Amino acid sequence: MAEKNYLSVAIQKNGRLNNDTVFFLKNCGIDIAADAGLYNRKQSINIDIVYVRDDDIPELVANNICDVGIVGRNVFLERKIAFDTNVSEKIKKFEIIKYLGFGNCRLSLAIPSNIAFNNLTDLNGKKIATSYPYLLKQFLLKHNLTSEIVCLSGSVEIAPKLGLADLICDLVATGTTLLQNDLREVYCVLTSEAILFSSSNLSDEKLQILNFLLSKDQTNNKAKVCND
Ligand code: PRP
Ligand code: ZN
Repeated sequence: MAEKNYLSVAIQKNGRLNNDTVFFLKNCGIDIAADAGLYNRKQSINIDIVYVRDDDIPELVANNICDVGIVGRNVFLERKIAFDTNVSEKIKKFEIIKYLGFGNCRLSLAIPSNIAFNNLTDLNGKKIATSYPYLLKQFLLKHNLTSEIVCLSGSVEIAPKLGLADLICDLVATGTTLLQNDLREVYCVLTSEAILFSSSNLSDEKLQILNFLLSKDQTNNKAKVCND
């Protein structure tokens, strides 16, 4: 459990957000290395940094193991819908504190390059592989589509080649992964960037530490208020 006098911050250990997250924290006065083990205590500013898989960060914050986390809006919303769907008394409400302006990407539908796509109704009856079943389900319901969702926790891009699915719904940043797998982006489901979030029950003491850190950040002053 997060310690009373320390603000614990969960960040991605490896992956797209790691370097920019460390850079952001440095701008907030927290001088840490990108690969500083799995746990790093900064006694002088009452901060604990916890390095984990990005997909685990919402659970850690929801269960008060960590106080705040930095993840993509895509991961945040996927887990938030999952929590809201499978209501658990233990889970506290999340709040987005700040949009961080890095880690920009899209959650998009992509189909094999040699297949035609005219409009969303082409998706009816098709199998879609994804690691974001809740966001995809929400999208399908909104557009009244009858596609089947195939859940995979990684390497989603290979699914059409393996015959597991007709198309995919996955993150696209540079588009390189899609190209490498002969896939073509056809529809953006969600835009994403890194966000800083907390559970809504932070103590005054922890809020003070957080506000002190954020007051130092000069990189991105345009914090947006968001109703996610
Ligand atoms: C995403 C996605 C693709 C890749 C796309 O993975 O699953 O594999 O990035 O990037 P590109 O368009 O620049 O090629 P992510 O970094 O989120 O890793 P994870 O799924 O292991 O968390
Ligand atoms: Zn991930």
